[in-house]
Amino acid sequence: MIKPIENIRWFHSMDLGSGQVTRGLKPREVLGMEAEIIFRYPLAGKTVLDVGAWDGFFSFEAERRGAARVLATDHFCWSGPGWGTKDGFDTAHGSLRSQVESLDIDAMDIAPEAVGTFDVVLFLGVLYHLKHPFLGLEKVTAVTQECLIVETLLDLYDLDRPAGAFYPGKEKGGDPTNWWGLNQHAVGAMLNVLGFKRVEYVLHPTSNPEVPDSMRGIFHAFRS
Ligand SMILES: C[S@@+](CC[C@H](N)C(=O)[O-])C[C@H]1O[C@@H](n2cnc3c(N)ncnc32)[C@H](O)[C@@H]1O
Repeated sequence: MIKPIENIRWFHSMDLGSGQVTRGLKPREVLGMEAEIIFRYPLAGKTVLDVGAWDGFFSFEAERRGAARVLATDHFCWSGPGWGTKDGFDTAHGSLRSQVESLDIDAMDIAPEAVGTFDVVLFLGVLYHLKHPFLGLEKVTAVTQECLIVETLLDLYDLDRPAGAFYPGKEKGGDPTNWWGLNQHAVGAMLNVLGFKRVEYVLHPTSNPEVPDSMRGIFHAFRS
């Protein structure tokens, strides 16, 4: 369904290829900086799964960068309890004349039987929304053939061992759907325990160690 873009509550600010730029919660400059890090390895010919795609910026960007096949999935913000809808994704998909496929499935239901397996799996901005983050990582690991890319908020950044902060209420950003702030050592260690041989970690470019709520990390976990 294609709606006028001003009638949609957008999460991603993105160029729809027709001179129109959506006014989403997440600025275009931030998405651009993230994409440069997330997609720093060639995608040409790869199959890509985007878990928690919402308006689909990273799915469409993977397609634009030459991925052979892209599957965008979401549930919480497409038809679940989140404030989002799939209208943004569908509108961008039409406007961009995209071939990206989509499937409404919860992140915790991701499994090879449900979606198949992919060379590259994107798990961006989802981990801290899960009550069971290690299980969530296990689910996306099961469908990853080569590289799992995780973007997540970080807490307990100064601790020098794996640790996580639990948010029972709205203490992180006023958002009750934020459950866990793992630190960079915890995310890296979990990915190693799940069998990834090599994990690269980059501090998110908008992070400022003097502003604890700004701390985020991007992890590339490789099978070999
Ligand atoms: C911050 S948005 C990230 C969107 C996009 N991947 C990005 O990085 O810009 C969080 C995503 O996680 C999903 N999500 C939020 N809470 C969730 C939950 N409890 N279980 C599963 N997915 C959830 C939402 O549907 C949404 O797509």
